[in-house]
Amino acid sequence: MNFYVMTLFPDMVLNGLRTSITGRAMERGILNIEAINIRDYTLDRHLHVDDAPYGGGAGMVMQPEPIWRAYEALRERIGRKPRVLYMTPQGQVFRQEIARQLSGEEDLVFLCGHYEGVDERVLEMIVTDYLSIGDYVLTGGELPAMVMIDCISRLVPGVLNNQDSAEIESFHDNLLEYPQYTRPETFMGRRVPEVLLSGHHANIDMWRRQQSLRRTAERRPDLLTGANLTAEDRAFLKTCCLDQTEKKSL
Ligand code: ADE
Repeated sequence: MNFYVMTLFPDMVLNGLRTSITGRAMERGILNIEAINIRDYTLDRHLHVDDAPYGGGAGMVMQPEPIWRAYEALRERIGRKPRVLYMTPQGQVFRQEIARQLSGEEDLVFLCGHYEGVDERVLEMIVTDYLSIGDYVLTGGELPAMVMIDCISRLVPGVLNNQDSAEIESFHDNLLEYPQYTRPETFMGRRVPEVLLSGHHANIDMWRRQQSLRRTAERRPDLLTGANLTAEDRAFLKTCCLDQTEKKSL
Protein backbone atom coordinates (compact mmCIF):
# COMPACT_ATOMS: atom_id res chain seq x y z
CA MET A 1 0.00 0.00 0.00
CA ASN A 2 1.24 3.48 -0.86
CA PHE A 3 0.88 6.49 1.46
CA TYR A 4 1.85 9.92 0.13
CA VAL A 5 1.97 12.73 2.67
CA MET A 6 1.92 16.25 1.25
CA THR A 7 3.48 18.42 3.95
CA LEU A 8 5.82 21.29 4.77
CA PHE A 9 7.47 19.06 7.41
CA PRO A 10 8.53 15.84 5.67
CA ASP A 11 11.08 14.92 8.37
CA MET A 12 8.47 15.04 11.10
CA VAL A 13 6.33 12.51 9.25
CA LEU A 14 9.10 10.17 8.11
CA ASN A 15 11.01 10.21 11.40
CA GLY A 16 7.86 9.15 13.18
CA LEU A 17 6.77 6.45 10.76
CA ARG A 18 10.22 4.97 10.05
CA THR A 19 10.33 3.56 13.58
CA SER A 20 8.63 0.49 15.01
CA ILE A 21 6.05 -1.55 13.11
CA THR A 22 5.41 0.85 10.23
CA GLY A 23 9.18 1.20 9.74
CA ARG A 24 9.62 -2.56 9.60
CA ALA A 25 6.80 -2.85 7.05
CA MET A 26 8.49 -0.16 4.94
CA GLU A 27 11.77 -2.07 5.02
CA ARG A 28 9.96 -5.23 3.97
CA GLY A 29 8.30 -3.43 1.08
CA ILE A 30 4.76 -4.01 2.37
CA LEU A 31 4.24 -0.28 2.87
CA ASN A 32 5.60 2.59 0.83
CA ILE A 33 5.39 5.86 2.78
CA GLU A 34 6.58 8.98 0.98
CA ALA A 35 6.64 12.55 2.23
CA ILE A 36 6.15 15.12 -0.52
CA ASN A 37 7.56 18.50 0.42
CA ILE A 38 5.06 21.10 -0.78
CA ARG A 39 7.80 23.72 -0.75
CA ASP A 40 9.59 21.84 -3.56
CA TYR A 41 6.71 22.86 -5.84
CA THR A 42 6.60 26.61 -5.21
CA LEU A 43 7.44 28.92 -8.11
CA ASP A 44 8.21 31.76 -5.67
CA ARG A 45 11.87 32.75 -5.81
CA HIS A 46 11.98 33.08 -2.03
CA LEU A 47 10.33 29.67 -1.72
CA HIS A 48 7.27 31.12 0.02
CA VAL A 49 4.25 28.85 0.18
CA ASP A 50 1.85 31.05 2.18
CA ASP A 51 0.46 34.57 2.19
CA ALA A 52 -1.91 36.85 4.14
CA PRO A 53 -5.62 36.07 3.95
CA TYR A 54 -7.79 38.10 1.58
CA GLY A 55 -10.28 40.08 3.63
CA GLY A 56 -7.78 40.51 6.44
CA GLY A 57 -7.35 38.64 9.69
CA ALA A 58 -4.57 36.98 11.61
CA GLY A 59 -2.10 34.41 10.35
CA MET A 60 -1.10 33.11 6.96
CA VAL A 61 -2.88 30.90 4.46
CA MET A 62 -1.16 28.22 2.36
CA GLN A 63 -1.29 29.16 -1.31
CA PRO A 64 -3.02 26.92 -3.84
CA GLU A 65 -0.33 26.72 -6.49
CA PRO A 66 2.41 24.68 -4.75
CA ILE A 67 -0.21 22.22 -3.48
CA TRP A 68 -1.81 21.88 -6.90
CA ARG A 69 1.56 21.36 -8.60
CA ALA A 70 2.62 18.76 -6.01
CA TYR A 71 -0.69 16.96 -6.52
CA GLU A 72 -0.46 17.06 -10.33
CA ALA A 73 3.08 15.64 -10.28
CA LEU A 74 1.90 12.80 -8.06
CA ARG A 75 -1.23 12.13 -10.11
CA GLU A 76 0.88 11.86 -13.26
CA ARG A 77 3.35 9.56 -11.54
CA ILE A 78 0.73 7.11 -10.27
CA GLY A 79 -1.32 7.40 -13.44
CA ARG A 80 -4.75 8.08 -11.93
CA LYS A 81 -6.66 10.34 -9.55
CA PRO A 82 -5.94 9.15 -6.00
CA ARG A 83 -8.09 9.59 -2.92
CA VAL A 84 -6.90 12.76 -1.14
CA LEU A 85 -7.56 13.07 2.59
CA TYR A 86 -7.36 16.57 4.02
CA MET A 87 -6.52 16.69 7.73
CA THR A 88 -8.83 19.21 9.40
CA PRO A 89 -10.77 19.56 12.66
CA GLN A 90 -13.74 20.36 10.39
CA GLY A 91 -13.72 16.82 8.97
CA GLN A 92 -15.51 13.61 9.82
CA VAL A 93 -14.03 12.11 12.99
CA PHE A 94 -11.71 9.19 12.13
CA ARG A 95 -12.87 5.82 13.46
CA GLN A 96 -11.81 2.19 13.19
CA GLU A 97 -14.48 1.56 10.54
CA ILE A 98 -13.09 4.37 8.36
CA ALA A 99 -9.59 2.90 8.80
CA ARG A 100 -10.91 -0.48 7.69
CA GLN A 101 -12.42 1.01 4.53
CA LEU A 102 -9.31 3.03 3.68
CA SER A 103 -7.04 -0.01 4.16
CA GLY A 104 -8.54 -1.42 0.96
CA GLU A 105 -7.11 1.42 -1.19
CA GLU A 106 -3.93 1.02 -3.23
CA ASP A 107 -2.87 4.68 -2.85
CA LEU A 108 -3.79 7.28 -0.24
CA VAL A 109 -2.72 10.91 -0.26
CA PHE A 110 -2.72 12.92 2.97
CA LEU A 111 -2.76 16.69 2.68
CA CYS A 112 -1.42 18.43 5.79
CA GLY A 113 -2.27 22.06 6.28
CA HIS A 114 -0.47 24.54 8.51
CA TYR A 115 -0.82 28.16 9.57
CA GLU A 116 -4.43 29.38 9.41
CA GLY A 117 -5.39 26.90 6.72
CA VAL A 118 -5.26 26.23 3.02
CA ASP A 119 -6.73 28.27 0.16
CA GLU A 120 -10.22 26.86 -0.35
CA ARG A 121 -9.96 26.61 -4.15
CA VAL A 122 -7.28 23.93 -4.17
CA LEU A 123 -9.20 21.95 -1.55
CA GLU A 124 -12.27 22.00 -3.83
CA MET A 125 -10.12 20.82 -6.71
CA ILE A 126 -8.30 17.86 -5.17
CA VAL A 127 -9.73 16.76 -1.79
CA THR A 128 -12.00 13.71 -1.69
CA ASP A 129 -12.33 13.28 2.12
CA TYR A 130 -12.16 15.72 5.04
CA LEU A 131 -10.99 13.93 8.19
CA SER A 132 -10.35 14.93 11.81
CA ILE A 133 -8.79 12.96 14.66
CA GLY A 134 -10.97 14.57 17.30
CA ASP A 135 -12.58 17.73 18.55
CA TYR A 136 -9.46 19.71 19.38
CA VAL A 137 -7.18 21.91 17.30
CA LEU A 138 -3.57 21.01 16.48
CA THR A 139 -0.91 23.17 14.84
CA GLY A 140 -0.92 21.13 11.65
CA GLY A 141 -2.11 18.01 9.88
CA GLU A 142 1.09 15.98 10.28
CA LEU A 143 0.22 14.30 13.58
CA PRO A 144 -3.30 13.42 12.38
CA ALA A 145 -1.83 11.96 9.16
CA MET A 146 0.63 9.89 11.21
CA VAL A 147 -2.14 8.67 13.50
CA MET A 148 -4.27 7.58 10.54
CA ILE A 149 -1.37 5.97 8.66
CA ASP A 150 -0.40 3.99 11.77
CA CYS A 151 -3.97 2.82 12.27
CA ILE A 152 -4.60 1.92 8.61
CA SER A 153 -1.21 0.20 8.24
CA ARG A 154 -1.85 -2.37 10.94
CA LEU A 155 -4.87 -3.56 8.94
CA VAL A 156 -2.76 -4.20 5.82
CA PRO A 157 -2.00 -7.94 5.55
CA GLY A 158 1.58 -8.72 6.56
CA VAL A 159 2.19 -5.55 8.58
CA LEU A 160 1.53 -7.22 11.94
CA ASN A 161 3.33 -10.50 12.61
CA ASN A 162 0.21 -12.08 13.92
CA GLN A 163 -2.83 -11.09 11.87
CA ASP A 164 -5.02 -12.29 14.74
CA SER A 165 -4.08 -9.30 16.84
CA ALA A 166 -5.51 -6.92 14.23
CA GLU A 167 -8.79 -8.77 14.52
CA ILE A 168 -9.09 -9.36 18.26
CA GLU A 169 -8.72 -5.82 19.46
CA SER A 170 -10.52 -2.92 20.98
CA PHE A 171 -13.34 -1.78 18.69
CA HIS A 172 -13.52 -5.06 16.85
CA ASP A 173 -17.27 -5.55 16.85
CA ASN A 174 -17.62 -2.38 18.97
CA LEU A 175 -16.34 -4.02 22.16
CA LEU A 176 -13.22 -3.01 24.09
CA GLU A 177 -10.50 -5.59 24.53
CA TYR A 178 -10.36 -7.78 27.65
CA PRO A 179 -7.44 -7.25 30.10
CA GLN A 180 -4.15 -9.04 29.39
CA TYR A 181 -1.61 -10.53 31.82
CA THR A 182 1.86 -12.06 31.50
CA ARG A 183 4.54 -13.42 33.87
CA PRO A 184 4.95 -13.32 36.83
CA GLU A 185 1.86 -15.02 38.26
CA THR A 186 2.01 -12.75 41.30
CA PHE A 187 3.18 -9.16 41.05
CA MET A 188 3.42 -7.16 44.28
CA GLY A 189 0.74 -9.34 45.81
CA ARG A 190 -1.63 -9.20 42.82
CA ARG A 191 -2.39 -12.56 41.23
CA VAL A 192 -3.29 -13.21 37.63
CA PRO A 193 -6.98 -14.29 37.44
CA GLU A 194 -7.07 -18.06 38.16
CA VAL A 195 -9.12 -18.91 35.07
CA LEU A 196 -6.24 -17.82 32.80
CA LEU A 197 -3.93 -20.34 34.48
CA SER A 198 -6.48 -23.17 34.25
CA GLY A 199 -5.82 -24.24 30.65
CA HIS A 200 -9.60 -24.55 30.21
CA HIS A 201 -10.11 -22.77 26.89
CA ALA A 202 -13.90 -22.57 26.90
CA ASN A 203 -13.85 -20.97 30.35
CA ILE A 204 -11.08 -18.59 29.29
CA ASP A 205 -13.05 -17.53 26.21
CA MET A 206 -16.16 -16.94 28.32
CA TRP A 207 -14.22 -14.95 30.92
CA ARG A 208 -12.65 -12.79 28.21
CA ARG A 209 -15.98 -12.13 26.54
CA GLN A 210 -17.48 -11.08 29.88
CA GLN A 211 -14.53 -8.83 30.64
CA SER A 212 -14.94 -7.15 27.23
CA LEU A 213 -18.62 -6.61 27.91
CA ARG A 214 -18.01 -5.29 31.42
CA ARG A 215 -15.26 -2.93 30.26
CA THR A 216 -17.32 -1.57 27.42
CA ALA A 217 -20.33 -1.02 29.69
CA GLU A 218 -18.16 0.76 32.26
CA ARG A 219 -15.87 2.80 30.02
CA ARG A 220 -17.66 3.25 26.68
CA PRO A 221 -21.35 2.39 27.10
CA ASP A 222 -22.04 4.37 23.90
CA LEU A 223 -20.35 1.58 21.90
CA LEU A 224 -22.70 -1.16 23.10
CA THR A 225 -25.58 -0.10 20.84
CA GLY A 226 -23.46 -0.93 17.78
CA ALA A 227 -22.16 -4.26 19.15
CA ASN A 228 -23.32 -7.71 18.03
CA LEU A 229 -24.64 -9.06 21.32
CA THR A 230 -25.94 -12.57 21.89
CA ALA A 231 -28.80 -13.31 24.28
CA GLU A 232 -26.13 -14.58 26.70
CA ASP A 233 -24.18 -11.31 26.41
CA ARG A 234 -27.30 -9.28 27.15
CA ALA A 235 -28.15 -11.43 30.15
CA PHE A 236 -24.62 -11.00 31.50
CA LEU A 237 -24.73 -7.22 31.05
CA LYS A 238 -28.03 -6.99 32.89
CA THR A 239 -26.60 -8.77 35.90
CA CYS A 240 -23.18 -7.20 35.94
CA CYS A 241 -22.82 -3.61 35.16
CA LEU A 242 -25.51 -1.48 33.62
CA ASP A 243 -27.70 1.09 35.31
CA GLN A 244 -31.50 0.87 35.08
CA THR A 245 -31.94 3.01 31.94
CA GLU A 246 -29.23 1.15 30.04
CA LYS A 247 -30.69 -2.23 31.06
CA LYS A 248 -34.05 -1.27 29.58
CA SER A 249 -32.50 -0.49 26.21
CA LEU A 250 -30.92 -3.96 25.92
N1 ADE B 1 -5.50 19.86 12.03
C1 ADE B 1 -5.57 20.59 13.16
N2 ADE B 1 -6.29 19.96 14.10
C2 ADE B 1 -6.70 18.78 13.56
C3 ADE B 1 -7.48 17.69 14.01
N3 ADE B 1 -8.01 17.67 15.24
N4 ADE B 1 -7.70 16.67 13.17
C4 ADE B 1 -7.20 16.69 11.94
N5 ADE B 1 -6.46 17.69 11.43
C5 ADE B 1 -6.21 18.73 12.23
